[in-house]
Amino acid sequence: MIVLGIETSCDETSAAVVSGGRRVLSSVVSSQFELHECHGGVVPELAARRHVTAIVPVVQQALREAEVDREDLDAIAVTQGPGLAGALVVGMNAAKGLAYALGRPLVAVNHLEAHIYANWLCDAPNLPEEPVFPILCLLVSGGHTELILMAGHGRFRHLGRTLDHAAGEAFDKGARLLGLGFPGGPAIEEAARAGGQHTFELPRAWLSGTHDFSFSGLKTALLRLTEPMRLPESYGQSDVTSATSPAGPFRAHQAPVYTASAPIADLAAAYQQAIVEPLAVKTARAAVEFGARTVVLAGGVAANALLRERLRHEVLELCGPDVPVAYPAFAYCTDNAAMVAGAAAWIVRRGDLVGWEADVHPRLPLIQR
Ligand code: KG4
Ligand code: ZN
Repeated sequence: MIVLGIETSCDETSAAVVSGGRRVLSSVVSSQFELHECHGGVVPELAARRHVTAIVPVVQQALREAEVDREDLDAIAVTQGPGLAGALVVGMNAAKGLAYALGRPLVAVNHLEAHIYANWLCDAPNLPEEPVFPILCLLVSGGHTELILMAGHGRFRHLGRTLDHAAGEAFDKGARLLGLGFPGGPAIEEAARAGGQHTFELPRAWLSGTHDFSFSGLKTALLRLTEPMRLPESYGQSDVTSATSPAGPFRAHQAPVYTASAPIADLAAAYQQAIVEPLAVKTARAAVEFGARTVVLAGGVAANALLRERLRHEVLELCGPDVPVAYPAFAYCTDNAAMVAGAAAWIVRRGDLVGWEADVHPRLPLIQR
């Protein structure tokens, strides 16, 4: 089965062709990075407009690179939600148009489910072809931090979630406080390489007795710690730009300014540790409690090397070597359409097709069965 996937839930316009739910024939991601960078975060209105101009060339490129004709496609898959409404609509309409014109089924894919199934795309290490359930998924992205138990295909149970910021959002906010740029995860990871792990100690919210997470206290602790290190120029500047400035009529982000001797690398290392540790430790404990036979990481933060390493270590300690820990290839951790096309094959297999009345769902939850 050859599926064209389309993903426009946030700030990447992406299309991909995947064969048999696993083999990626092409994966095109058009980033809007430069559009949002000066705002320090994604501006939904700008994202939607850029998707409109990017979607057709991106789909054409995906088909060209896969060396397949439109007629070779067996289904068209698209992210239905969760995500930004205006952004999702662009992908949904493009997918409907193509599916209708070609007379092919439309598959509406939950973005979170797509992140999870990215673990079964071609080069995922050490996982058997068929998923071995129950699977414990730690889904960590810019908008979500969820601990999910997957009892079978399409059978999800939420065990815990963040009570405030998502893990990716915590990375983004921390990077912003440290003047490290956007998106924050890769920026903090890079800065932390030169830092000492134990120079600063930041708080972890363990929320004992639950499978939940919390990162807002950590962010506030970083704010308090760094406030005295900032130069006065960091304050008092207007962050509202005029309609004629490069940032347009939207707010432009003013990065804080630090003294040259400020220990940014040490702070980044301590902050990264404080995000990663509760995620890895609580996931491993839940794996034992629920008898997981596979543990998978998913979402943009799954690209983080420290999290991968720490989770593998904790699960090995608590569950032994028979419970594999997997994460998607780097390219399929952050938003991409290959994961959408890949998930679609599993969804078709369980018979969950949708009709033309399918609409976007910005707050779409994972199906509870
Ligand atoms: O899954 P994703 O591309 O988009 C959402 O669905 O949210 O995740 C984006 C998030 C951002 O918050 C970004 O900072 C984070 O993933 N991220 C990382 C890394 N790469 C991306 N966080 C930590 N370490 C990374 N290497
Ligand atoms: Zn995502």
